[in-house]
Amino acid sequence: MTCFSGITPSGGATLGNYLGAISRWARDGRPGDLYFVSDLHGMTGAYHPQRLRARTRELLATLLAAGIEPEQLFVQSDLLPQLGALTWILECSCSFGEAARMTQFKEKSSAKGLEATPVRVGLFTYPVLMAADILLQGADEVPVGEDQAQHVELARTLARRFNGTFGDAFVVPRAVTPPAAARVRDLADPSRKMDKSARDSVGVLYVMDPPDLLRRKIRRAVTDSLGRLEYRPVEQPGLANLLEILAACTGKPVREVGAGFGSYGDLKEAVAEAVVDELRPVRERTTELLAESAELDRIRARGAELATARGAHRLATAQRLAGVG
Ligand code: AMP
Ligand code: TRP
Repeated sequence: MTCFSGITPSGGATLGNYLGAISRWARDGRPGDLYFVSDLHGMTGAYHPQRLRARTRELLATLLAAGIEPEQLFVQSDLLPQLGALTWILECSCSFGEAARMTQFKEKSSAKGLEATPVRVGLFTYPVLMAADILLQGADEVPVGEDQAQHVELARTLARRFNGTFGDAFVVPRAVTPPAAARVRDLADPSRKMDKSARDSVGVLYVMDPPDLLRRKIRRAVTDSLGRLEYRPVEQPGLANLLEILAACTGKPVREVGAGFGSYGDLKEAVAEAVVDELRPVRERTTELLAESAELDRIRARGAELATARGAHRLATAQRLAGVG
């Protein structure tokens, strides 16, 4: 296997997910690569069961619609029995201190407004589940952004420790840095990344947004009052974000893409049309796949079967070596 990555259905896929991850996976992917919808990771805070189920299905359909091969995809919860078992085995060799050091846990557990929704044990142990995801499938390279690199490091530590203590069961994975991706920012607040789990979605473009909604959101994008149509990310972050989006959608260099526009308004119209054109095929195909319910079920079941088969011997070996089952 060359590349292994998950995407959590904490919201609909955004233009950022599409340009930065999904379309690249489809375009640059190699036959051994594997991608999954990490729905179990969407349960670590307050969540809505029906919404989680619907988003999982929609995300699976979007990954297929983008052109990722069906046999390279699966839904994490379809492997729940295996992942649950392996997570427990790994938790029993992970120290409390190691888990407590995870930056994402520290940040999320100390965020404001948690009084109403207490921090769950699942948020604390989630990196161990992520290690189970990786180790069960025998992934050797895991391309992740900075925020997930520490989790892959933990998976590496746990694999080494298990192999050293009990005997060889796991491939030792390593985090790899994916080639620089377009970093799409929130249209209403360009200091943040465009994030599917953002509370306020006026600045977030979703793959499944209808064209009119995309156009409206883009017209309202925050710019500045300088009136200079140049690519200056520090001084004019909102404008730079629009230029980057236009460049990513048209394949032109970001410093050239703004030439010839008379005003920010004209540029926004061009960005809107480029985004609508970019997302139209994937939105339409996602909608079709969601309507072809039996076909989507079949693809999902097949993906689950393949991923389960891929992991079965590793889990059996780990159980045997750990003295259980
Ligand atoms: P996330 O939505 O944070 O779960 O990320 C899923 C994948 O999409 C990861 O590979 C991210 O690097 C990528 N991604 C998420 N948001 C953006 C964004 N705003 N711009 C570019 N890539 C993104
Ligand atoms: N936790 C990752 C995220 O929230 C997604 C993910 C889950 C993942 N399991 C993984 C990524 C295993 C790489 C490998 O973005």
